[in-house]
Amino acid sequence: MIELRHVGKKYGDAEPLKDVSVVINDGDVISVIGPSGTGKSTLLRCINLLERPTEGQIFVDGEEITAPRYDASRVRRRIGMVFQSFNLFGHLTVIENIMMAQVDLLGKSRQEAYDRGMELLSRVGLSDLALRYPDQLSGGQKQRAAIARTLAMDPEVILLDEPTSALDPTMVGEVQSVIRDLAGSGKTMMIVTHEMNFARAICSRVFYMDQGGICEDGPPEQIFDHPRKELTRRFIQRLKVLELAVEGREFDFPGAGTQIDQYCMKNGVSARIRYRIRLAFEELVQQILFPRIREPRIHVTLEYSESGERVEMTVLYNGEVFDPADSENELSYRVITGISSGVRHEAVSEGDYTNLFSISIR
Ligand SMILES: Nc1ncnc2c1ncn2[C@@H]1O[C@H](COP(=O)(O)OP(=O)(O)OP(=O)(O)O)[C@@H](O)[C@H]1O
Ligand SMILES: [Mg+2]
Repeated sequence: MIELRHVGKKYGDAEPLKDVSVVINDGDVISVIGPSGTGKSTLLRCINLLERPTEGQIFVDGEEITAPRYDASRVRRRIGMVFQSFNLFGHLTVIENIMMAQVDLLGKSRQEAYDRGMELLSRVGLSDLALRYPDQLSGGQKQRAAIARTLAMDPEVILLDEPTSALDPTMVGEVQSVIRDLAGSGKTMMIVTHEMNFARAICSRVFYMDQGGICEDGPPEQIFDHPRKELTRRFIQRLKVLELAVEGREFDFPGAGTQIDQYCMKNGVSARIRYRIRLAFEELVQQILFPRIREPRIHVTLEYSESGERVEMTVLYNGEVFDPADSENELSYRVITGISSGVRHEAVSEGDYTNLFSISIR
């Protein structure tokens, strides 16, 4: 059990962590979510003393680890940390990376450290790559190796700070499945993540952090579906929405594709729907609207709906009143209606926008 009592952290005028009091029980799997710069990393770093809190106390199983004479390296053995950027040693092979701290800090023999290391590599699916150097691994493999290295210390608690956010989308799944496996094993974990569906799937508890504090603490159903605090509600709502503004013809379509991919990942939108969104966006904006509007100003909003797999795409655009159903480009229009469960056009008057077209994608 970890208990934080009025923990705070100040750097000069900045106060990234303010008066946090909370109890983390054995076996809790906690997702830490919240806007950027609200102290999520600072909270994790204070818990394993990578940063010393400037206020308050932290207890692990009743022992005060923030006491002046408490040995910080002992804390780091009990509370392991996995970073966004892996932090493997480049001059050591994967297995050496995993053996090192076991020999140096736990006093194991090289053979013992090797055996345990190989066992953990097999657990994260990397047995074949033990003799490679980090540079010879993909991002997902590096992160799995880093997780194995953390596990090699047999920590009681594992803290993970955005473990998949530096990864190419194709590798997120393999790392998430290792983490999911760990979460299922009863280990106490805290994970900072922006992937809400993943958080919901693995955690028993969510901390919504805002302004340096834990603004709301509750089970995932509460935080994601029925948040009690206004700040939480707004954050969750914002996540579900993606807005793209197309102004002029020099629009970065590949960039928009990446934003759509990230949005879908955060919300756990399936690959099939993600593909359909990209298709609808390109067919409508590039193929149908661009040829019709001389100076395009197009505003696209995507909103994910929790009830079943559905994304609503709402497109506002300028120019004369024009229903895409009347487009000469019948093929593109047919693609759009083919992947949607309904489309709707209406004339509007909202600033520069004169048309609204919405597409329900399932
Ligand atoms: N070493 C430092 N010196 C000064 N300010 C710092 C330091 N580390 C963090 N901060 C500040 O503390 C605040 C919280 O930072 P923190 O990294 O904990 O946020 P975060 O919630 O993890 O954000 P993100 O989602 O972007 O990772 C930020 O405003 C940051 O600029
Ligand atoms: Mg952070």
